[in-house]
This record gives sequence, C-alpha cells and structure tokens, in this order.
Amino acid sequence: MAIQAVPLPYNIDALEPVISADALKIHYEDHYKGYVNKVNDLIPDTIYEDLSLKDIVLKSGKKIQWDHETKIFNNANQAWNHAFFWKCMTPARNMIQSHVLKEKINESFGSFENFKEQFTLKAGELFGSGWCWLVLNKSLSLEILLGKNEENPLVSGKIPIFVVDLWEHAYYVDYRSQRREYMDNIWELVNWSFVEIEMVKAERVQQQRKNFKENTRSLPFYFRQKWLGVNQTFMKPRKTSIRTGTLLGSLIGAVLFFFVSMLVGLDILPLPGLFTTAAHTNFGLIMFVGMTLGVLIGGACGALVGIGTPMPLHIARK
Ligand SMILES: [Fe+2]
Repeated sequence: MAIQAVPLPYNIDALEPVISADALKIHYEDHYKGYVNKVNDLIPDTIYEDLSLKDIVLKSGKKIQWDHETKIFNNANQAWNHAFFWKCMTPARNMIQSHVLKEKINESFGSFENFKEQFTLKAGELFGSGWCWLVLNKSLSLEILLGKNEENPLVSGKIPIFVVDLWEHAYYVDYRSQRREYMDNIWELVNWSFVEIEMVKAERVQQQRKNFKENTRSLPFYFRQKWLGVNQTFMKPRKTSIRTGTLLGSLIGAVLFFFVSMLVGLDILPLPGLFTTAAHTNFGLIMFVGMTLGVLIGGACGALVGIGTPMPLHIARK
C-alpha cells in the first residue's frame, strides 16, 4: 500500500506574506513529496509494506536494527511531521484560542504569553535542523520539545498537538538565516482550532493508555507487551537470532573443546597445571568437563552474537 502525500489544506499562496508561495511550493512539492516518495521506494518487501504512515513511524522507531530500516524511519518521520505541520497552519490570521485550549496552556505554562515565549526560546535553542513540538505527555500535561532532524515524539509515547518546522528549507527562501524572525511571524498562521482538536484527542488517548496500564499492571510481561501495544516487530527475529546463535555457539564450543581436551589428554598439547594432571588421571572426565565448558562458553558467546545480530526485514516479515 503506497503512502499518499496529503494535499495542502489551503492554496499555495494562502499563507503570504508570512510564507511566500515560492517557499511553500518548494517545501511542499520538493521536500515533503520527496520524503513520501522515498518511503514508497523503501518499504516494498518489508514488514512496513502494508502499514499506514503513522504505524511505519511507530514500528520503525521502536528498535532500529539496520541501515535500511533507519532510512525508512527517517523518511517516514519527515513525511508524517510535514503532513502534521501543514494542518497546524491556516490562512485565517491570528486565530483566537478557545477557552478550553487557553485553560490547558495556562495550566502548563502560566499564561499564553509565557507559552509563546518559551516555545520561541526553545525553537531558538535548536542546533541545526529539526522541529519544535507542543506535546501532551503521559501525565496529561503540555510540554515543549525539540526534535533533532526527523525526530518525532510519537515514538516516546508523547502525542504532538502542534509543531513548527525548523529545517532551513522551511524559512530560508523568505527569511534567509533569520530563524527568529520566521518564528515571530509564524504565530500569525497557527490554526488553534486544529491544535485544540488534537489536544482533546490526545487527552482521550493518554487517559485510555493510563487506565489500561493500571488495569494490566499485574499481568505477566508477555501479555503486557502484547496488549499494551508495545511494538512486537522484532521479538520474533531477535528470539530467532539468539536461539540460532546459542545453538551454533554451543556446537562450535563443544567441538573445539573436544579437540583441545583430547590433545591435552594425549599430551600433544602441553598445558601446565591441574588440567594436564587431571587429564592423565581421568581422561573421560576431562573430556566431559572440556566439552561442557565448550557448550557453556560457546553457547554464551553465540547468544551474545545473536542479541547483536540484525535480522534482514524479509526474514523478519515471516
Ligand atoms: Fe520541512
């Protein structure tokens, strides 16, 4: 299932003069659609092929194991972030926040002016490219977060309700290097109705998650993982690689130690100390001890290799 680029919810020149038609066209047509196209190029024949964009972000962000997956994660995040960003803006200028939203902002930041100041300051702290987010955290409070490059708060369980794109491509055409000026002007475009709707939805979701977690706290680990929606993508392949590593390691260790024990027992490989003495006294025992050691050490090494071994997606999919 190909990921579709969302249409801009306004005309290309609707945000002028804060964001010019030229800047928005490049941003939307080149950058945003570029990310969407890259996701579509990367996901065929992977476990992400049939997922929605949001699910790709969530799944690929949990446990990145190899380069191809990192590319999927980066581009999917950028595609999702931009689709969200377009909705955070509106041609209706200087929209007034509703009472509900104002109350929530006041609760977390003291006042709307404080929030605006803190958000703008935070955005100014970002080194390089990224995003400045307003999120609803697990404690149901609003929080301002910086995301470097493609970073997205969804993966950490926080729900975005507003965002400003701080990549240079978002403001360079109109503001050159003056990111602060872009930030000061962009408040004029914020779609507070959208922000409020997202906040209400986020509160509901976070409350449900909280209730669910409390209700399932006493359940065994496996069921909590399964029912709490924790990503399961890599559990199977990881288990597979650990099991395979342990078996192979045990086998290699047993064979290796069998020959070492035999060589020591036959005095071909001289080892000083107790091992050689014991080998002379009881050859069978030393072979047994040697092979057991081989199985244990080999198995442990194999398990460690298995833990660190990435599984190709076409295997993980099965
Ligand atoms: Fe952007």
